[in-house]
Amino acid sequence: MTSVKSICCIGAGYVGGPTMAVIAKKCPHIKVTVVDMNEARIAAWNDPDTENIPVYEPGLSDVVAEARGRNLFFSTEVDDAIRDAEMIFISVNTPTKTYGSGKGMGADLKYIELCARQIARVSTTDKIIVEKSTLPVRTAEVLRDILQNVGNGVKFQILSNPEFLAEGTAVEDLFSPDRVLIGGDYTDEGLKAIESLVEVYANWIPRERILTTNVWSSELSKLVANAFLAQRISSINAISELCEKTEADINEVARAIGTDSRIGSKFLKASVGFGGSCFQKDILNLVYISRSFGLKEVADYWEQVIIMNDHQKRRFALNIVRNLYNTVSGKKIAFLGWAFKKDTNDTRESAAIYVADLLLNEQAVVKVYDPKVEPKQVYADLDYLETRQPAANANGVACYEDPYEACKDTHAIAVLTEWDEFKTYDWQRIYDNMLKPAKIFDGRNILNAAELKAIGFQVRSIGVTN
Ligand code: NAD
Ligand code: UGA
Repeated sequence: MTSVKSICCIGAGYVGGPTMAVIAKKCPHIKVTVVDMNEARIAAWNDPDTENIPVYEPGLSDVVAEARGRNLFFSTEVDDAIRDAEMIFISVNTPTKTYGSGKGMGADLKYIELCARQIARVSTTDKIIVEKSTLPVRTAEVLRDILQNVGNGVKFQILSNPEFLAEGTAVEDLFSPDRVLIGGDYTDEGLKAIESLVEVYANWIPRERILTTNVWSSELSKLVANAFLAQRISSINAISELCEKTEADINEVARAIGTDSRIGSKFLKASVGFGGSCFQKDILNLVYISRSFGLKEVADYWEQVIIMNDHQKRRFALNIVRNLYNTVSGKKIAFLGWAFKKDTNDTRESAAIYVADLLLNEQAVVKVYDPKVEPKQVYADLDYLETRQPAANANGVACYEDPYEACKDTHAIAVLTEWDEFKTYDWQRIYDNMLKPAKIFDGRNILNAAELKAIGFQVRSIGVTN
């Protein structure tokens, strides 16, 4: 086994950036270079003020400040970094395909393949290639085929090391993960490569939390972990609809079932629906893979998690329309939150986008406040759907830097993200400046409904009969 002294990571996104920053912090003896073809992104990672790095994560700017320039580097010189590294992490995006076969279901592996071809082209010494991106099971076979047929005598070992961090808690998750998973070949060379990566993580993670498996188990486990997590949310959201009809309270039901240690209390928070760049993409991928093996029942089973989530987002939006007397045309609705969860500036697949889209179709005016999301991102998210012209989105949506201004003169407020600050607002002041009857649709069940009702608000929460 060789001790790794130089690591390169291709992809400086929400995973590559934080993961490598933490490896660099915990392993000062290893040189870590994060490369990306996106120049603006690399420039932001190199911003002298680490508060301006492109990924907002609590604690991350401190980690970057400590390691950057010492043994952590961000660069667009991809070839040089590949050539210099003994171990290369591939942490590029693997979105759902938007064209051709598998459109809307399978993972688009073009960025992965480009990385493999680039590594094959420039490498002059043996390397360990680590799949950090989330990939369909058996992708290592594709990488191997590309890497091993270059004919320049360079030897590659391929490992799978999926990332389990959640956004908003990335630094915490990376400092103290439930487990690290490393899959590799059970050959002498493969086992040596596995041990090299184990050694990197063992600088701060207890060995018993570093699991090793074969490559295929590791690749598949990542998709399965996300599918299980998302399935819990769709399960509790399905029950939330039943609660709304029966005077059962979803918060009480979640507490009651969550105390069973076999079920557990985490990930049982009913909501407007899960978002984020991965749950939907990874489940669609699992469904697609299952279908491609002819496993119809398996595919249908997991697809239901997505169907339920789409239903929950639509149901929330339609509930707003229904409660505003079946018409929101010309009515102002404030959105508190646009990010897909609190403590992140990431909006990918955020439920807010789909709720806004439906309300805009009903000709509502949407007034958005989010503590970390830039207005241009809000418009880009809506434009990406191509439901209407960008000018129409710009017309129908206004973004605010002050939540009180966003809520002023509105008919209703919808809570789309569970930012803590929403709980401590001066709700009397907000009420006084709204049109009456003042309505709140709490898509995250974070507000104190009893207190708001005492002020005069009409409150609708998820999974609670009103
Ligand atoms: P991202 O879009 O934030 O970052 C990917 C980066 O890769 C981009 O900056 C892009 O410019 C760069 N890139 C793409 N192709 C490149 C190439 N050929 N050369 C150089 N740079 C290239 O994506 P992300 O959120 O960091 O996710 C990356 C992977 O990690 C995905 O497979 C995702 O499923 C997985 N993942 C994400 C999370 C998360 O919380 N976001 C968690 C676990 C796993
Ligand atoms: C998720 C997983 O939690 C990570 O382990 C995984 O690495 C990552 O996906 C990935 O592969 O990308 P993330 O999407 O960042 O992480 O955030 P989560 O905390 O899982 O939240 C996902 C969505 O579910 C959010 O919209 C959140 O608000 C929602 N959610 C979560 C609920 O509605 N209810 C819950 O009880 C929990």
